[in-house]
Amino acid sequence: MELTREEEGILEGREGETRQRMMELLVGLGKVFSASRLIPVASAQVSGASYKTIGRWGLAWLESLDATVTVPTILNPVGMDRERWREAGIPQDFAENQERVLAVFRRLGVRLECTCTPYEILPPRFGEHLAWAESSAVAYANSAIGARTNREGGPAALAAAILGKTPCYGLHLDENRAPHLVIRVEGFSRGCGHQDHYGALGYLAGRIAGDRVPFLRGIRPNPDCLKALGAAMAASGAVALFHVEGVTPEAGRFLPATVGREEHTITAGEVAALLAEMPVEAVAMGCPHCSAGELEEIASLLRGKRVNKPLFVFTSRHAMERNRSLVEAIEASGARVYADTCMVVSPMMEGYSSVMVDSGKAFAYVPSMCGALARIGTRKECVAEATGGKAG
Ligand code: F3S
Repeated sequence: MELTREEEGILEGREGETRQRMMELLVGLGKVFSASRLIPVASAQVSGASYKTIGRWGLAWLESLDATVTVPTILNPVGMDRERWREAGIPQDFAENQERVLAVFRRLGVRLECTCTPYEILPPRFGEHLAWAESSAVAYANSAIGARTNREGGPAALAAAILGKTPCYGLHLDENRAPHLVIRVEGFSRGCGHQDHYGALGYLAGRIAGDRVPFLRGIRPNPDCLKALGAAMAASGAVALFHVEGVTPEAGRFLPATVGREEHTITAGEVAALLAEMPVEAVAMGCPHCSAGELEEIASLLRGKRVNKPLFVFTSRHAMERNRSLVEAIEASGARVYADTCMVVSPMMEGYSSVMVDSGKAFAYVPSMCGALARIGTRKECVAEATGGKAG
């Protein structure tokens, strides 16, 4: 791998031990993936921020770092709402350790928005190189925006944040952005008629695609639907980039590349079958974090209703602070809206044996990360489940 003089100097330790360790990490990664060089990144997004997922060894590693980030860097959700963790039942020792994790990231210069929707705060441009770690944000940045990022591990994203560079391989290169397979969706109404079904559709599509790049036909998702679709495909498979015919910015360019590719079909009936009935103890929405539009939809579904089982809604603090009246409207029903965290990375959901979600990603992760059975439903069905009503 070709390094500049400055990069060689960092590797030799001329700029301190932490920058040297970070350079060793990026060079090692670059060698594994045959990268020819390092390229500058416009921003980074770092995962591995919840004490639930990193534990004491991860915290010790973070506390050993002594450097600052050199590009705008946003943190992924942590294990608790930083302001309302007591009422959410987070144990004191967990909260103290989570605060230590946050203190390290603050010292490193990382922005503490704690969200998996960093594109709402630092919107990337088409073609821009990034080093983002959160799988749903990676899928969105690559697919909906046409920016370029690999699905970084937490330490690699942090190394890129500190050095402002990442190895040039994978989805940074044109040739790896072409579709490997076509998925035709049948029976989805055009426009956003099936808006609530994109999480379930993504769950099925991700199982077909695995870690390949799918090209989807027959759907017209809006940005929130693309978010749900990508998050689910990234979780049930390992999709980091997808194209949607007539919708995503690189789909037209790659249309000729779909000829002769492996083809699959998913029907609206198969999606509906996934939304099967199962008794649930609690309902959680907001994976990835709710946008303003999604908060508005949930508030309107809850208008005039009271929940009779726990209903949790997760969003970014950025969205929460800009939509206080929607948050109040949701909480008037007895539901709770939390920021900085989510149903998967927080210990909050571990006390329930079954959880209903509106997200393909949460559906894939709740069983292993929270030890609960998961049921997926539309947003309307989730609200009906929590309020004892009918989805209509
Ligand atoms: Fe975000 Fe948590 Fe889902 S980090 S994508 S809300 S699992």
